[in-house]
Formats: sequence, C-alpha cells, structure tokens
Amino acid sequence: MTLLPETRQPHESDEKHLHYFADYEPSTGDFLTDTLAGLARSPKSISPKYFYDQKGSALFDEICRTPEYYVTRTELALLDSIGPEIASLTGPDAVVVEWGSGSSWKVRKLLDALDRPAEYIAIDISREHLLAAAADIAKDYRDVKIGAVCADFLEHITLPDKAIFGKGRKLGFLPGSTIGNFAPDTAARILRRIAEVVGSGGALLIGADLQKDESRLLAAYDDAGGVTAEFNLNVLDRMTVELGAKLDRDAFAHEVRYNKDAHRIEMHLRAKYATTIEVSGKSFAFAEGETIHSENSHKFTPDSFQAIAAQAGFERQKVWTDADNLFSLHYLVLP
Ligand code: AVI
Repeated sequence: MTLLPETRQPHESDEKHLHYFADYEPSTGDFLTDTLAGLARSPKSISPKYFYDQKGSALFDEICRTPEYYVTRTELALLDSIGPEIASLTGPDAVVVEWGSGSSWKVRKLLDALDRPAEYIAIDISREHLLAAAADIAKDYRDVKIGAVCADFLEHITLPDKAIFGKGRKLGFLPGSTIGNFAPDTAARILRRIAEVVGSGGALLIGADLQKDESRLLAAYDDAGGVTAEFNLNVLDRMTVELGAKLDRDAFAHEVRYNKDAHRIEMHLRAKYATTIEVSGKSFAFAEGETIHSENSHKFTPDSFQAIAAQAGFERQKVWTDADNLFSLHYLVLP
C-alpha cells in the first residue's frame, strides 16, 4: 500500500458476507459544537450533514419520490439507457468504488449493466447504514466481491491489499449530484481523493445536476407536499431533542432561493418573527426574516462541471444528458 503523508491506517475487521471492511473511524462532527459556532456566525448557518439522522434520511428518500424532484428519476432513467455504453467503456472485471453509497441502490443498475463486475467497494461515513447496505448487495450479487470502507469524502483512502486490483478497470461512482452540495474548491478536492483511489487508467462515473429554469429548480426544493420543508425543519427538531435546545419551531419557515451568481440553490430556515434559540446556556437572537443557511446545491453546465473535474486531473470521455437537459452523467478518465 502506498502511504501518502496525511494517510491514516484504517482499522480492518471481518464482517460476515463482506470480502473486507476497513474503518477509518471518521468523525461525524460534533453537533453541539457546530450548532454553537453556526448560530454565532453572521449570517447564521448549519452544515447540511446534520440533515441525515434516521428521520432525515427517510425524508430524503421521500424527496426523491416527489413529483417535483426530477433529479433521481432522471438519473435512473439515464443510467438505464446508457448502461451498454458504460459497459463497453469500462470493459470486463471492473472494480466499482462508490463514494457516499448510502443504501447502495443506484449502484445495482451499474452492476447489472457492467460485464462481470469483479468487485464493489462501498464508501460511506455512516457505519451502520454502510454495513447493512453492503450486506444486502453481497446477498444479491454472489459473484461480486463486496468491500466496505467507513470514511469521510475528504479522507485519503488506500484500499486494503485484499482488493483484487490489477484485473479490470477501477471505476469510481458518485451519483445524485452529491458533488453539488460542496463548494467548487471542495468538490475539486473530493475529486482529487477519488483520483488517488482509481489511479492512472481509472475512471469515474459522476452525476451533476444542470442549470435550468429557476422556477423548476425552486419547485424541486420546495415541493407542494412539504416534504423538503420537513427535511429542512428536522434539523431544528434534532437541536431540541439531541441538544436540549429551547426554540419555537413554528417561528421558522423553509425558504429556498436561487443564487444566480453562484449557480446554486440555497436552503434556509427563516424566522417568521423575532425569536431566539437557546442552546447550552447561550441565547441566539433572530430578527424577523433572519435565516440559518442550511444547504447549497450547485447547478452546472456540462462544461462548468468538466472544469472542476479537470482540476483533479480527470479528462472527459463521455457526457450524457437526458432529452430535457435536466441532468448530466459524466464518464471521466484519469490518464
Ligand atoms: C443529496 N443532495 C444531492 C440533494 C440535493 O439535491 O442537493 C439534497 C437535497 N436537499 C433538498 N432536496 C434534496
């Protein structure tokens, strides 16, 4: 294994059903520290990573099924139609490595399309979710060796020696436009981490949501059924339950803005009237209309996304978009 300067050695352990499990023991963040720091900031903010507790993850799955959130449907249909092309670009015996694998359900389409995929390595920060999803995949794909790595997106990962490299192409997979939830410079850093893992000759299949009509974007992040609003407000419930915060949930409303200069959707929690949040003996005052900025979701053109990929050394092999130009999938290669 090559050890880069900042590389940490993972803790390796055997998990039933899995070829291997490597645990980098990533910090999932300190909700209290980050809440206190975020509410003291001007403007106030909180990291979107705190959306994803059990309830938030279930709400996100529900968002993916709302009529307004075109992202998931469009990407899945695109994956179906380009499966044979991806298979021929990749070749047989591929080693598929997915970042932020979550429930590992999109990768099934990829594994089904590829020619005898040899190995699937799921990387996720949430240990329980990761192990459960990897075990499910292992049951359904008996001919594919399944590995799991518990790590953060920005971690330098060296895959365990057990990984059967050298046979087929290493193909990274990062669907869903998850990359858009990071600022462009962080996105480029994440792609550099991926490049380290897939190495020269490796490839990356990555989803990037496209810039489009503002009203369509606003609706996708503010569905009529109010699921995205609940997803956003859930972070306040977490403060109440987990941090013992004293706050008036009804004082806050879900707000979505399109920031034209940064080409990003922003989610905010807006105070409908003056209110306070008290956490850990500290009181944070909100003026009417003041917000907590809770998420960014960057929207790209195929070229603007390629420019970020190029910063990590990736070259464009193929870009697909759906007929309505809503979403793009990029097949990038590392020379
Ligand atoms: C996970 N991520 C790609 C979603 C997005 O579209 O930015 C998160 C999301 N937030 C609100 N709706 C969906």
